[in-house]
Amino acid sequence: MHMAHTIVIFGASGDLTSRKLIPALYELYRKKRLPENTRVVGFSRTKFSDDAWREKLAGTTASFVGKNFQTSLWQQFAAAIFFHPGDIGTAEDFTSLARRLAELEGEERATRVYYLSTAPQLYGSALAQLGAAGLANEDRAPCRVVIEKPFGTDLASARELNRKVHDVFSEHQVYRIDHYLGKETVQNVLVLRFANSIFEPVWNRNYIDHVQITAAEDLTVGHRAAYYDSVGVLRDMFQNHLLQLMTLTAMEAPAQFEADAIRDEKVKVLRAVRPMKPEEVFSDTIRGQYRKYRDEPGVPPDSQTATFGAVKLHIDNWRWQNVPFLLRCGKAMSCQTTQIVIQFRQPPHMMFASGPRAPFESNRLVIQVQPAEGLQLHFQTKVPDAGMKLRLTDLSFNFRDRFTVGIPDSYQRLLLDVMHGDAALFSRADEVELAWGIIDPIQHGWERPGWPPLALYEAGGWGPPNSVEWMCRQYREWFDSCPVLK
Ligand code: BG6
Repeated sequence: MHMAHTIVIFGASGDLTSRKLIPALYELYRKKRLPENTRVVGFSRTKFSDDAWREKLAGTTASFVGKNFQTSLWQQFAAAIFFHPGDIGTAEDFTSLARRLAELEGEERATRVYYLSTAPQLYGSALAQLGAAGLANEDRAPCRVVIEKPFGTDLASARELNRKVHDVFSEHQVYRIDHYLGKETVQNVLVLRFANSIFEPVWNRNYIDHVQITAAEDLTVGHRAAYYDSVGVLRDMFQNHLLQLMTLTAMEAPAQFEADAIRDEKVKVLRAVRPMKPEEVFSDTIRGQYRKYRDEPGVPPDSQTATFGAVKLHIDNWRWQNVPFLLRCGKAMSCQTTQIVIQFRQPPHMMFASGPRAPFESNRLVIQVQPAEGLQLHFQTKVPDAGMKLRLTDLSFNFRDRFTVGIPDSYQRLLLDVMHGDAALFSRADEVELAWGIIDPIQHGWERPGWPPLALYEAGGWGPPNSVEWMCRQYREWFDSCPVLK
């Protein structure tokens, strides 16, 4: 018999629940992947009845899953959705939650999943209350806690939060979310590297000049401006998503596809990242802000928050010595594109006459993370009937052309993994702390006034002009290309 599951969402009336969690669970139910006897209990201060909450979620789910929404299917699914009003700060609300869960589960031994999707400053109290109410206890059945990002705002606060987590839960019960790991194309980095034999032999300093990782969004910060202003691009995207993409690209092959084997290898990469010295923050990073940012509601008129960043990191190990990892991320950019570019070295000797742009046109493997999920391999070819003229061309693979199934939202995979107890795609305590340890010196540097200068940039381009110049000075060039979507 399948084990029953109870998912309790704290902060249930928030955006994440309606935009991501419930649609993902509904989609799993529709695809018959959701374990049987899964129930969802929402917890927040809003006083919904079960029915009122179901009704609200019906509307939001329909708008997020589109044509996959079927009213009768939703009704079957929604019969297992409940609401329990309560306040994170109030102990009695947790004792009454415990009673309600016991009532709903009856004789069943249900795996519990507590999903913390509250304001991050409430994580600590939510954890303590779960502990005090005896809800973290695994005597009867497994119980797990999922913690949304941001996990702390710097190394000290991440350590403190890990302490609070470990006061109540053991590490095997903890699932720290980085939704980038739920993306199919991010998992495919592991498949590309470790289920093929042709890439790994060239995946090192002997063949690779540098690696570029770009996460560009055409959107501005919009209604999140007040929150975003206290965070900025380093904390919002670099500490988590960009460093995850980097570690998966750089790590050694784990012996098994197993949570700790994978995370051990990722941790080794993070440990090998050269800590940035203050003067290197000046030479090896660029920070920018889009021109209209200070007009966004909630942003102070003199805000120094960066909405664009470019950072050069070095991984001091045998594989990557002298191969910079150039990480770049920004809002209000030319288009939405997340890509990992493996830029190979030039051939050792070029016997063909070369044009002026030749230095930049060596082989390149572009891993398109989103939205045009796929891969392109760029290589030189002979232009027919034109003497020995060469041109860079590519072999291109696109998931959407090759597979008929669509690409699911990352929360489907992540929620299912939590229910199955597989933590491979979640960050471990040491991993988040190491990631903050890399970001902190850069963030501190950026908080010193004007160092490096905050460069303003126009929306709709590729960030501040000094980011391009910075690459030119390294004899490198950003691969700026908007993916072609069909
Ligand atoms: C979030 C950031 O973690 O990731 C947002 O807080 C960002 O600022 C988002 O827009 C990007 O996620 P995705 O999946 O759209 O690339």
